[in-house]
Amino acid sequence: MAQEVRGVVAPGKNQPVRVETIVVPDPGPGEAVVKVQACGVCHTDLHYKQGGINDDFPFLLGHEAAGVVEAVGEGVTEVAPGDFVVLNWRAVCGQCRACLRGRPQYCFATHNARQKMTLTDGTELTPALGIGAFAEKTLVAAGQCTKVDPEVSPAVAGLLGCGVMAGIGAAINTGGVGRGDSVAVIGCGGVGDAAVAGSRLAGAARIIAVDIDDRKLETARRMGATHTVNSRTTDPVEAIRELTGGFGADVVIEAVGRPETYEQAFYARDLAGTVVLVGVPTPDMRIDLPLLDVFGRGGALKSSWYGDCLPSRDFPMLVDLHLQGRLDLAAFVTETIGLGDVEAAFDRMHQGDVLRSVVVF
Ligand code: APR
Ligand code: ZN
Ligand code: ZN
Repeated sequence: MAQEVRGVVAPGKNQPVRVETIVVPDPGPGEAVVKVQACGVCHTDLHYKQGGINDDFPFLLGHEAAGVVEAVGEGVTEVAPGDFVVLNWRAVCGQCRACLRGRPQYCFATHNARQKMTLTDGTELTPALGIGAFAEKTLVAAGQCTKVDPEVSPAVAGLLGCGVMAGIGAAINTGGVGRGDSVAVIGCGGVGDAAVAGSRLAGAARIIAVDIDDRKLETARRMGATHTVNSRTTDPVEAIRELTGGFGADVVIEAVGRPETYEQAFYARDLAGTVVLVGVPTPDMRIDLPLLDVFGRGGALKSSWYGDCLPSRDFPMLVDLHLQGRLDLAAFVTETIGLGDVEAAFDRMHQGDVLRSVVVF
């Protein structure tokens, strides 16, 4: 029996979001219905609302979520009703060349639930990032659910579904930060701060946080930055070199997504160092680097998509580290809010006041 629940819908480009009644079908083959317990508010939800991702309105927003599996469809073996899970963007196929070569992050045949959630008049909803979890219940592919220790608070667990995983993964998976390394993180919003926390977790000796906003630098310090640089007043490349004995950082993580900060990252790394681009650029952005500098400096220029995470490996591990007191994921939750407060949370996000507002049910 399809069910009616409340969910946050973006009806059209730049229109305020509304809490609407939505219809969630019973799970079909390979699908699961999840009773959502918490879902973080992410920039990507705002981008959907602004029409910046695509025009498939109306959207059912929300994608950084955790909850309990309520029902599963035919053939589902990954999860069972009652399991506490964190949701991820796409289920992987397990059979394509990328999957078989051990890189399911780049699976060619990822998928979401095949059935659609709708408004009560039958209008089909597009779930944000294939999830749509600003809703009391949501329909996903069973492969989008990863079981984690249910001791963790849902508000904390849900964050692993997107921005926090992207940042931690940029450091530990893509950047390969290791014990004793020096790391610089340019841009200390939620993603950059998570990269700082990930670097601390990996044992980095020196973690230099760079931002143009002193409030962000203060938060970065709480997350584990050992040094901070305000790049509005100080040249960050010079400052990073000075703080690393004149060399540059072993790993530089760019978490803004702009050409000028990418260029800073490029020149702030040590010879043979690694640059990780995790900030998402827009299609018009270009950089112009002397090829001789690319050649002469060696090392690696990488991009990090979703923190190069493997949900089944990384979500439970990070939850365990949090429960052991070795990774403070709760520090990313600035406030918990209700389903009706998402529009106000977008405003606060815009003003840079919060790391994460999390809707709890
Ligand atoms: N130099 C340094 N820091 C900057 C600059 C700059 N030129 N411009 C902006 N920043 C800082 C902001 O002050 C803010 O602290 O970058 C940070 C960006 O943080 P958020 O806006 O909170 O974004 P976040 O959620 O962290 O995502 C960062 O990663 O996943 C991508 O799409 C996401 O591109 C975005 C980036
Ligand atoms: Zn695949
Ligand atoms: Zn997100």
